[in-house]
Amino acid sequence: MVYSKMDLSSRVALVTGGGTGLGKGAAEGLRAAGARVVIMGRREDVLRKAAEDIGAEAIVGDVVDKANVENVIAQIAEKFGRLDILVNAAGINLRGDSFEYSEDQWDHVHAINAKGTFLCCQAAGRVMRSAGYGKIINIASLASEIGFPRIVAYASSKGGVRQLTKALAVEWAPFGIRVNGIEPGWFRTELTEPLFHDEEWVKKITSRIPMGYAGKPEDLQGAIVFLASRMSDYITGELIRVDGGALAG
Ligand SMILES: NC(=O)c1ccc[n+]([C@@H]2O[C@H](COP(=O)([O-])OP(=O)(O)OC[C@H]3O[C@@H](n4cnc5c(N)ncnc54)[C@H](OP(=O)(O)O)[C@@H]3O)[C@@H](O)[C@H]2O)c1
Repeated sequence: MVYSKMDLSSRVALVTGGGTGLGKGAAEGLRAAGARVVIMGRREDVLRKAAEDIGAEAIVGDVVDKANVENVIAQIAEKFGRLDILVNAAGINLRGDSFEYSEDQWDHVHAINAKGTFLCCQAAGRVMRSAGYGKIINIASLASEIGFPRIVAYASSKGGVRQLTKALAVEWAPFGIRVNGIEPGWFRTELTEPLFHDEEWVKKITSRIPMGYAGKPEDLQGAIVFLASRMSDYITGELIRVDGGALAG
């Protein structure tokens, strides 16, 4: 280990949405830094396969279901005796014209992205409060900050994630719990796969990224490990953009 403050070998982490995409990349990064990692998601087969790849444990669960979330956190606390790190990567996007957007679509996106993130923070935060230490990393989005067409509920829910991150950071700092976030730019994952089949779209977004390419899940790992480790103990309520410079200009 180059620098002991980066070492997560005494830490236990939960990554929601850890079976695929950015959550899986985050889980791999935390494992590489030494943490014991639990991944959570709804599809058991996807989760088990990812857990095997990563060397993590899998617990099937739905972030929208409060009792389910509390049960998952209780299982982790019981098995490992601690929970130091929570990464909230579970999320969805339902694209559509806002004139036609349905109430069900709106509620569903907010339930997973905003309420689900809060429920996981709340249940994990209680365990962290007892320990006097914890690191929460919420995956927000560039859409937390700027507007894009046809994703009105996603933008609203991710704006909510940005603000709940700041609200909890202030409320929970006295308990030693740091609450930060990451705003990824464009990454190729299950969520965005259909867009990456559209050559015009790829050309357009690539031209907006000074680094000149879309991100891969491993591109998020530096920020994840940094925010999960003691390196970032004096940082809370911050959201780091990992976007190849997209919002810099
Ligand atoms: N890809 C990008 O360019 C990008 C950019 C900005 C932000 N993000 C954010 O990054 C996060 C990860 O997305 P991704 O791009 O990696 O897409 P992804 O591969 O589709 O990952 C989303 C994960 O969330 C899980 N999930 C969804 N609903 C859930 C629920 N109710 N309970 C538990 N788990 C649930 C999914 O697993 P199950 O379906 O098995 O539950 C899946 O593993 C999301 O919050 C997304 O908004 C992505």
